[in-house]
Amino acid sequence: MEQDNKRGQWGSNIGFLMAAVGSAVGLGNIWGFPYKMGANGGFAFLVIYLLMVAFVGIATMLGELALGRKYGMGVVGTYKLISKKYTWIGWLGFLSGFFILGFYSVLGGYTLRYTLGFLMEIFSAGAGFGGMGSGEFFGSFIINSGGNLLYHGIFMGLTVLIVMGGISGGIEKFTKVAMPALFAMLIIVIIRSVTLEGAFVGLEFMFKPNWNAFSEIGFMKVLKTAAGQMFFSLSLGMGCMITYGSYLSKSENLEKNALIIPIADTIFALCAGLAVMPAVGAFMHQGVEGISFGAGPGLLFVTLHQVFSVGMGGLIGNLFGVLFYFLVFIAAVTSAISLLEVCTAYFIDKRVEKGLDPNRKKITIFTGLAIFAMGALVCLDGLGSGVAGGAAIDPPGLMFGMENIRTAFASWLDFYDMISEGVFMPLGALLMALIIGWSLKTTVIKDEVESSPNVLMKSYKFWDICYKFIVPVGMFFVLMGQLDDFFGLGIF
Ligand code: PHE
Repeated sequence: MEQDNKRGQWGSNIGFLMAAVGSAVGLGNIWGFPYKMGANGGFAFLVIYLLMVAFVGIATMLGELALGRKYGMGVVGTYKLISKKYTWIGWLGFLSGFFILGFYSVLGGYTLRYTLGFLMEIFSAGAGFGGMGSGEFFGSFIINSGGNLLYHGIFMGLTVLIVMGGISGGIEKFTKVAMPALFAMLIIVIIRSVTLEGAFVGLEFMFKPNWNAFSEIGFMKVLKTAAGQMFFSLSLGMGCMITYGSYLSKSENLEKNALIIPIADTIFALCAGLAVMPAVGAFMHQGVEGISFGAGPGLLFVTLHQVFSVGMGGLIGNLFGVLFYFLVFIAAVTSAISLLEVCTAYFIDKRVEKGLDPNRKKITIFTGLAIFAMGALVCLDGLGSGVAGGAAIDPPGLMFGMENIRTAFASWLDFYDMISEGVFMPLGALLMALIIGWSLKTTVIKDEVESSPNVLMKSYKFWDICYKFIVPVGMFFVLMGQLDDFFGLGIF
């Protein structure tokens, strides 16, 4: 127990839930989900997505939370305690945190830049974005290495500050305010978005069921997209939920928590879609130039910039611009702190194990600096435009002599994303399910859930089948799908 206190603990279950939902809700929900849903069958995609959440996501979530609470350690420590021969799986998680935060923080920095940009535009036209159009500004910003580094540094600095405060005094305290605020801001943007003239175009794009998508796009492809999106969005497969679970008190009901987090994440994803797509559709309908449906950085930083600056325009456009980018910034920070915590927890566990003071502050700063350095590479190659933009560093494709042939090496961002989201995370989730299902046996989860006073596991038989068969098959599928995507293999 004393060790628990040294590592830290959530102050309340609701505080834990805010932090966990904060981890799940991030850039993935905002720039990934709405477009993927629209482009892959609308409502038909949602059905597949929900099935993936129900049969793969919730079980994996429960598995991570239970293992974390049982062993009371971060991801590396947990796997090491299960068996020394599994320690390397923990390292996959640790490294995923490192790599993801390496690029996530750069993008988080962009959201700050855009928030400030719209804020400055309120006071003087042209002050925020230099009088440039959305595409032009984005093009000039990504090759502005100094600017990228500055905002990446600020974003990382803020993340470090929160994590330094500890579990209940830092992460919980911040997310308990940030998550309700995020939701409130999202609702305001949704109301504006769905009441725009022509909003139905976006609503139709996102929600209209198109069952033909399964035959047109290919059922396997839709399934792969849903599965990949689901597990990244739920922060699974890299020990984030193991780490957060390790700070959870024995009195909380794990089965219930494992259900609430995915439901909340899905609601946020749908809300993000309602905030973004109707606005994009409305201005497309109204014939505003440079606006079309899309995903990724292009949607978030070019299309939506255009939506606010030209589509809405004027003071209202600038105000909604500030609100929207600030909201995305908050969503990104609450995910970034969970990524950083995965890495810091390793060092803290090591010290606590040796009976030393955890020294959280120093460790967090040190880890944050290392991740900042990793992210610097993402800043310096201008999102892969290094060649054309004449930025400081070549993307990995050029450095490794791959001449950008492989999509996975086209930029440092793609490269980090490929290692983490593409390989380590699905592999981590696959192996965890196999370990729970076949090595430890699923009773380990049942016993941990039922170690809470007056809690009986409700759906043991269902989870048993999930760990043994459904999750491993699903995750194998995600792994193949990701490799297919990143290397353009054309399997699916
Ligand atoms: N779930 C976050 C998102 O949707 C990303 C993330 C992945 C955060 C893994 C933590 C761990 O953006």
